[in-house]
Amino acid sequence: MVKICCIGAGYVGGPTMAVIALKCPEMQVAVVDISATRIKAWNSDRLPIYEPGLYEIVKECRGRNLFFSTDVEKHILDADIIFVSVNTPTKVTGRGAGKAADLTYWESAARMIAGVSKSDKIVVEKSTVPVKAAATMEKILTHNSKVNFRILSNPEFLAEGTAIKDLLNPDRILIGGKESPEDQKAVRALKDVYAHWVADDKILTTSLWSAELAKLAANAFLAQRISSVNAMSALCEATGADVSEVAHAVGKDTRIGCKFLHAGVGFGGASLQKDILNLVYICECYELAEVANYWKQVIKINDYQKSRFVNRVVSSMFNTVSEKKVAVFGFASKKDTGDTRESPAIDVCQGLLRDNAILSIYDPQATDTQILEDISSRKFSWDHATYLKPVSPMAVNKAVVAQDAYAASLNAHGICILTDWEEFECLDYQRIYDNMQKPAFLFDGRNIVDVEKLRQIGFIVYSIGKPLDVWMKNMPPLWA
Ligand code: NAI
Repeated sequence: MVKICCIGAGYVGGPTMAVIALKCPEMQVAVVDISATRIKAWNSDRLPIYEPGLYEIVKECRGRNLFFSTDVEKHILDADIIFVSVNTPTKVTGRGAGKAADLTYWESAARMIAGVSKSDKIVVEKSTVPVKAAATMEKILTHNSKVNFRILSNPEFLAEGTAIKDLLNPDRILIGGKESPEDQKAVRALKDVYAHWVADDKILTTSLWSAELAKLAANAFLAQRISSVNAMSALCEATGADVSEVAHAVGKDTRIGCKFLHAGVGFGGASLQKDILNLVYICECYELAEVANYWKQVIKINDYQKSRFVNRVVSSMFNTVSEKKVAVFGFASKKDTGDTRESPAIDVCQGLLRDNAILSIYDPQATDTQILEDISSRKFSWDHATYLKPVSPMAVNKAVVAQDAYAASLNAHGICILTDWEEFECLDYQRIYDNMQKPAFLFDGRNIVDVEKLRQIGFIVYSIGKPLDVWMKNMPPLWA
């Protein structure tokens, strides 16, 4: 029986291993983590992460061939294949702070594998790591153990919110390995796992370095498309063009394609910004300044889009939101996830709080604790490698979490839609309007509402990249 151990029971490790356990019933899959709270949650009915379809799979496999444990050593010792799926966040101190990947957790997992292993193992990099990280992993393993390790790169391309769908039906599985016969044997062993449900032509094999770099490149390309359309959205607002029409026309070109061309308040999530910054840092290390600057611009536009949104809210509401209640619909970085990491909502809420707004925030999945923790957190400026001043505790106290969208918007002057949850498309906006202060503003940061319908109700609506409401067009220049 093939025994698999995954180090890191997070957004990637949990769902990925659940799907492997589902599709490979003859294999034993153990997911281990140093966080006892996380493992306890994985073993409960309330999983630590929300993903459509995940609970059903975990329920089916848990206790059969899927196990969640804090006994990291035991499961490493037993395993034939070890996936390393620990977090690799952006460094916030020391060399490379603001851009480089922090490989502390990754290195400690490698040292743990070396220290514990007594038999040959395949070690699979699942975490997103800098290109050539496998060489470091190899050094750590071979200098600290007599065991024979084969290191493979197998980056994960799932997207939060659609993780199960992506895992069950991936666009591709990427496996990078060295050329030697032993390494190629390891590649085949990993390929055999995925071959249980993924067609052969979707399993790509490459060199180690290509696989590592392909993950960073894919996220950089995705983020670049969002920043491209968001940059266009600013020009659309200035000229009266409609970004949805522009994006539709552009996307119809089969060379370009229509996906990832939806303008909004900016991209967020655990990976996009972090991985581009990692790419920027690698380029700088190789003295490729022009390439680094090219990718930096993708993040600059993203930051610009978030601050442009805040400015639009404040300027539309007579240049001040001080002591005005503003409802925030959605806080997670995207729909169908409770993950708030790098969510644009954090920046928007902090921007509004700095202008003394009173916020009432509602999200269907993000927890109250997480929301309040995020808005009071210190933001790390990637460009200046330093923490920015946090929002004052007095201002943070003006934010509350509401139980639903109706409660959040009761007596509010304005609404900001910051996550594309489907429930925000079909709310009773007449009821919401009736219970708001007038004029009632709605700022759609995800372009999901029917602008005309809302204007007919009486809302003053701002939708990113769309022709401006006459209200905004007629603002005195100072406010616009
Ligand atoms: P996460 O933060 O949700 O989970 C990582 C887990 O690893 C944590 O529970 C942590 O306690 C555990 N951990 C850290 N060091 C450990 C150690 N030495 N031993 C045992 N457990 C340890 O992170 P997430 O989101 O799952 O990401 C993991 C990796 O996958 C990152 O490199 C990320 O860039 C990459 N990735 C993430 C995607 C996402 O959508 N979240 C998508 C594709 C890749």
